[in-house]
Amino acid sequence: MPPRVVLVGPMGAGKTTVAELLGRAWDLPVRDTDADIVAGTGREISDIFVESGEDHFRDLEADAVTTALAEHDGVLALGGGAVMRAESRELLTGVPVVFLRVGLSDAVKRVGLGAGRPLLLGNVRSRIKALLDERTPIYESVATHVVDTDGRTPDEVAAEIQELL
Ligand code: S3P
Repeated sequence: MPPRVVLVGPMGAGKTTVAELLGRAWDLPVRDTDADIVAGTGREISDIFVESGEDHFRDLEADAVTTALAEHDGVLALGGGAVMRAESRELLTGVPVVFLRVGLSDAVKRVGLGAGRPLLLGNVRSRIKALLDERTPIYESVATHVVDTDGRTPDEVAAEIQELL
């Protein structure tokens, strides 16, 4: 069974928190590809980036997406960059996908100093801006629904998703 809903969006969109809320509300299991990678490798995401490189992380992530989409009947949160591989985007066809949209200011506030997020090392604000500019059209292209998260709590976002689906 494919997931009941997949959450996509940038770092700071609240994917993990909203996924937990939806799982509780619907009494469904929740899965997160970042957590799957950490559990499967026994390594932190930032260690994988630093020691093995981003390409290796993306290979692990593409495998995690394939496995989770094939076997997880619940709520699935994807890492922010998981939609960058065409092969992963293709697997989302026919699945309800919610893009949690977030603007620059709220994303920066939510990620703080970017701890544990290797792509944000250096200037968090300019890194997030570049990622939002590059990826927003891609999130929009895979999404069946778009939910704004700016200025809203995870509870408000989860409630809107429940109304939509
Ligand atoms: C990344 C997002 C992170 C994590 C990794 C790379 C990205 O996940 O997969 O640090 O490329 O946007 P979250 O979006 O859950 O923070």
